[in-house]
Amino acid sequence: MPEPTSIEPLRFEEGALLVLDQRVLPAAESWVRCETPAEVADCISSMAVRGAPAIGIAAAYGLALAGEDRDGAAELLRATRPTAVNLGWAIDQVLDAPDVLARARELHSEQHAADRRLAELGASRFEAGDRALTHCNAGALATAGYGTAGGVLRAAWEQGRLQQVWVDETRPLLQGARLTSYELTRAGIPYRLITDSSAGTLMARGMVDRVVVGADRIAANGDVANKVGTYPLAVLAARHGVPFYVAAPLSTVDAGTPSGDAIPIEERDASEVVPGLPALNLAFDVTPAELVTAIFTEAGVLEAPYEEAIAAALDR
Ligand code: MRU
Repeated sequence: MPEPTSIEPLRFEEGALLVLDQRVLPAAESWVRCETPAEVADCISSMAVRGAPAIGIAAAYGLALAGEDRDGAAELLRATRPTAVNLGWAIDQVLDAPDVLARARELHSEQHAADRRLAELGASRFEAGDRALTHCNAGALATAGYGTAGGVLRAAWEQGRLQQVWVDETRPLLQGARLTSYELTRAGIPYRLITDSSAGTLMARGMVDRVVVGADRIAANGDVANKVGTYPLAVLAARHGVPFYVAAPLSTVDAGTPSGDAIPIEERDASEVVPGLPALNLAFDVTPAELVTAIFTEAGVLEAPYEEAIAAALDR
């Protein structure tokens, strides 16, 4: 029985994947019905579904809709967004499965379990009265589960360790203003929205106790790719002595990417920034491991030296 405040961005029903259209939230709760891998690929590229784990799960369901040409469908889905490693990881998990749909459903529920576990571990680092800042959206909408950074906030709130959340609006697509605020409202967690450029002033005034963000890909050395604007937050947090946490499942950790320099950074259409102007629209940035206080995963809390901690977690 889903909790009353639970949010499910993906459902597979009657031979189709239903995608809660995140492009129009919170103004409308409308669903896109996908019956082919191409329709799922379109939902991922256009960001009707977004967030690293959620696009992986969507792609896995997308493969369950493929006919004879499963490899062609995998190629199409893989090419949709380059930065989040969960996408290729989830495709690899289902590609050779005897029952693709059953394996996709399993990945979906495994994501839920991983979120719950890492959220509990992360929340234990919080102290009563904490005011936490987050960027973009790494809640249930982004994982098809409970949420990574959003799950940590939720668990900290449930444990009485969180006073309120500062939500970066997250230009240009406003995942913070539209999606994180929607989730926090539904969960009854107090928050205030801020412009992305306010974080420094808030930290300088002692109004931020922790920063917690999600990740799209974590390199083997602990460098973290996440929504553009994450790196400057980490620099500010270090300057002001504020702990900077990353929350992510192990499926976001890419042992095959040695460091952040090797992570492909998606460049999206300039029109998303301001229509008609020659904008550079980098969707992600890389935070060096040295600025990360801890990484919360379902396999434990990882701390520096990250290379060793990550290798040990992946081995487990
Ligand atoms: O471009 P988006 O909205 O897909 O970017 C999402 C993020 O950067 C999230 O922080 C990340 O995917 C983690 S989601 C649990």
